[in-house]
Amino acid sequence: MSDSSTFEGLLETVREAALDLWHKGWAERNAGNISVRLKETQRPVEVPGDGQWVQAGVTVPDLVGEMLLVSATGSYMRQVGRDPREGMGVIEINQTGDAYRKLWGFKSDQNPTSELPSHLLTHAVRKRVSGGADRAMIHTHPTHLVALTMTRDFNTASLTRLLWSMHPECTVVFPEGCGFVPFEVPGGNALAVAGEAALEKHALAVWEYHGVVGIRPDLDAALGLIDTAEKAAAIYTVAASAGGVRRGLSDDQLRAVAESFGLQLDPDLLKG
Ligand code: 13P
Ligand code: ZN
Repeated sequence: MSDSSTFEGLLETVREAALDLWHKGWAERNAGNISVRLKETQRPVEVPGDGQWVQAGVTVPDLVGEMLLVSATGSYMRQVGRDPREGMGVIEINQTGDAYRKLWGFKSDQNPTSELPSHLLTHAVRKRVSGGADRAMIHTHPTHLVALTMTRDFNTASLTRLLWSMHPECTVVFPEGCGFVPFEVPGGNALAVAGEAALEKHALAVWEYHGVVGIRPDLDAALGLIDTAEKAAAIYTVAASAGGVRRGLSDDQLRAVAESFGLQLDPDLLKG
């Protein structure tokens, strides 16, 4: 695990995460995007600061003056995993929270990810509900989680209940549950707004037919969060193809696991 307290260290954690996403098969071509809301110590030293302000498409008063390290639209995680200076950049949010300017990176006129509205609304809501702790967001396309959304008509409670029941670690890693976001066009504001609502209560949300979003204090934790949910979906898939899913953790077993870690599960999600 790299030391991410400096900008250089943070770039190394981005490189490691991007490579993991590629090797896991969750980042075909330019799939997926990464953003980190920078701490003071993580800001890049060389900041030209002469970029043009660009409308962000959403307004995020909670992020006024923040700097974010963001992947570029069209960038390949496979490539970022080799060299994060290719395919990443830093943006600054203006004083009204509705525009950004590029400060660092973004080689050859690259621009921030097409999912920037989702990243900005997610950072804003999670900064609020986590008391500022959540800073690193990953959007990626894990095969089993996406496939799962094609097997039935889910909502947040039914998806959470299914994931929890497939793998005891899930209640520990995401005791607040996993949000479900019905399909919206990728990169659109409707997706960003629907995701924001889901992420107010959860640090993890699945986008129907598309992918997943996870946000935690650092990239290792965000990746671990997604990895745990994907593992549960993979277990479900293997069990289903091995003759059918007939059993799984019961409500009592789920509560017992959570209680042993001092956690409480939302009874409404257990009904799913
Ligand atoms: P970007 O290349 O614009 O980041 O888009 C990838 C993606 O996964 C869209 O949902
Ligand atoms: Zn995507």
